[in-house]
Amino acid sequence: MVGNIILVGYMGSGKTSMARLLGQHFNMQVVDIDFEIEKSEGLSVNQLFKEKGEEYFRELESSIIQSRSWVNTVIATGGGLPCFNNNMGILNELGKTIYLKITPKEVRRRVTKSKNKRPLLSLYENGEELLNYIENSLKEREVFYNSAHITIDANDYNKEDVLDKILERLT
Ligand code: S3P
Repeated sequence: MVGNIILVGYMGSGKTSMARLLGQHFNMQVVDIDFEIEKSEGLSVNQLFKEKGEEYFRELESSIIQSRSWVNTVIATGGGLPCFNNNMGILNELGKTIYLKITPKEVRRRVTKSKNKRPLLSLYENGEELLNYIENSLKEREVFYNSAHITIDANDYNKEDVLDKILERLT
């Protein structure tokens, strides 16, 4: 029993897939906040941003982390969630927070194909424009990510290796 585990980090850092692996490893339930929001609203994150706006989405993110009683759960957050409304402080109270840290270039490499599913990135052309946006917003967001209990270098392409690094720090 390790208590709740919460994964934070930029888009493309592997929060969803690492949450699944950790859930399997510790036999814990896994909750992906984006997916929960999509389920309860009946809209994709993309549609929510387009039809209701980012602010509405941020309110949903904050309310979901505060309104549930989290027990023995691995939570995959959306990349922006820790950076609004004191959410990072709340996450730090809920359990062990883990920042999956990757470089802006690695973010770009990972998101290029799926960019259109991510409303904030789809505004930018692949290439320098996208990299500039990622660099700048990551810098702003790191202020929040850096207050996680544990930081893991997640640049490694091999998910099992990243999992091992997390396990070493948790046990
Ligand atoms: C966002 C990240 C996305 C999703 C939304 C906004 C962000 O989640 O919540 O598109 O602001 O970084 P992922 O980090 O899972 O891509």
